[in-house]
Amino acid sequence: MMLVMYVCICNGHSDRDIKRVAQSGVSCARDIYIQLGKPMRCGRCIDMAEELVQKVHESTIDNHKTVGTRR
Ligand code: FES
Repeated sequence: MMLVMYVCICNGHSDRDIKRVAQSGVSCARDIYIQLGKPMRCGRCIDMAEELVQKVHESTIDNHKTVGTRR
């Protein structure tokens, strides 16, 4: 069972919503919120959202490195 964690209470954006948009190449939490149709409001969630975005992009870079080193 996958648990959903709400990152942004104002807009109801979950960790999955944010990761999905980050995986499409968007690298800024504010832009991700715009893509999700509801822009940043109070801003209390920004640190957690940015952390999620960073993790997604780090894992993408790691995957590319791993693929690039296969023989
Ligand atoms: S909790 Fe995300 S804008 Fe308020």
